[in-house]
Amino acid sequence: MELIDYIESKREDHLNELKEFLRIPSVSTKSEHRPDIERAARWVAEKLRAAGLDNIEIAPTKMHPLVYGESLHAPGKPTILFYGHYDVQPAEPLELWTSPPFEPTERNGNLFGRGTADDKGQVHIHLKALEALRKATGKLPINVKVMIEGEEEVGSVSLWDFVKQNRERLKADALVVSDTSMLAKGVPSITYGLRGLNYYQIEITGPAQDLHSGVFGGAVPNPLTILAEMIAKLHDRNLAVAIPGFYDDVAVPTRAERRALQSLPWKEKEFRKTVGAPALCGEHGYSIVEQLWTRPTLEVNGIWGGYTGEGAKTVIPSKAYAKLSTRLVPDQDPAKIAKLVERHIRKLLPKTVTHKFEVLSTGKPWVAPYSHPIFQKAIHALEAGFGKKAVFIREGGSIPFVTQMHDTFKVPCVLLGFGLPDENAHAPDEHISLENYFGGIKAVALFYESLASL
Ligand code: BES
Ligand code: MN
Ligand code: MN
Repeated sequence: MELIDYIESKREDHLNELKEFLRIPSVSTKSEHRPDIERAARWVAEKLRAAGLDNIEIAPTKMHPLVYGESLHAPGKPTILFYGHYDVQPAEPLELWTSPPFEPTERNGNLFGRGTADDKGQVHIHLKALEALRKATGKLPINVKVMIEGEEEVGSVSLWDFVKQNRERLKADALVVSDTSMLAKGVPSITYGLRGLNYYQIEITGPAQDLHSGVFGGAVPNPLTILAEMIAKLHDRNLAVAIPGFYDDVAVPTRAERRALQSLPWKEKEFRKTVGAPALCGEHGYSIVEQLWTRPTLEVNGIWGGYTGEGAKTVIPSKAYAKLSTRLVPDQDPAKIAKLVERHIRKLLPKTVTHKFEVLSTGKPWVAPYSHPIFQKAIHALEAGFGKKAVFIREGGSIPFVTQMHDTFKVPCVLLGFGLPDENAHAPDEHISLENYFGGIKAVALFYESLASL
């Protein structure tokens, strides 16, 4: 049977199987979900087997297992390494989900559930594309290596060791990843740039223990006030990051790139609707697309301390905490930026408190040219699979592994995103558009098929 007809004939089966995957609550950050993580790894391994891959392995790591499989029966043809993740973010707050996060539900052309877009739905697209190629055409037209990890949402802690220990085995002509988004519905996209990410935690200590705010208030430092003052100084009036040296190494996009980004069919109105805030704000002097994709940022991800329970409690807390992160762009160096942030925070804090500064994770930014012929194959496959014009975009999110692979193997990285910016990744009511899921399977199958002639 012809490839596309075969894929069309399997719609129901594919969707039901994806739902099975989504019902496994493989939340990587919580130890209570360890059995689910293992179940998800076994599930992926089983599907690799069904797709006809060999040497399937559930590789144990210090944290969560990594699933590997390969098919190397196309001598003289290109070899691709496909990477994705089977772990998901926690589903909380549960009460904000319209249908339960681990009971996948279809509504208005979307499939809802944790992991639908990030990243189980997108991984499944590739598993089914590979299976379809083998079943419809008898064999895979290219050599394929598949690596699906279980720690992406907690910073891919073990992944790098695995890559170093399996350098030869993982060698490929290109890396293929589907863990990003399209620019908009009906605009299939290839992502050629991601921001890097440094994540920090700060602990500030004033009094040696909590104090009665009546007995002591007025004469002692309040770490929450001091934390708030410090945070308020991290941006200037133009909403630029006020840390000296922060922008020193930021690469300025070429005129040609700025023009290309500016001419994308990106809709400000849709963006505003997705955000849902009364108004937008960002670093002055840049378009929104530039702010999101080409400029570094500093965000406060959480602040806590003192009394936050019901009613009143008159207390001066001993400690205050914050989680901060910086999104980085070429050519910023994560280690250098971490030092600048720490030094600046130390300078801003008064002598009335002590503090602890921790870097929880770090990852480099990535931008790469898309001149390699594989990108033309990808564009054609996306256009054939979706019947729409495809574009090249950058994104603001981070996948540290892509940079590591690109730096190590110096191969093209093809990021085919089938999510959408408003699909609530990491949030309640995460979903994937069924049109993108089914279109994705066709596009990826056509892409892999077309690589035989590369
Ligand atoms: N799939 C996302 C990355 C992403 C999201 C790329 C949107 C492009 C657009 C990935 O699962 C993720 O959530 N990454 C984290 C960083 C990671 C180190 C925890 C992120 O970007 O915050
Ligand atoms: Mn992801
Ligand atoms: Mn994610």
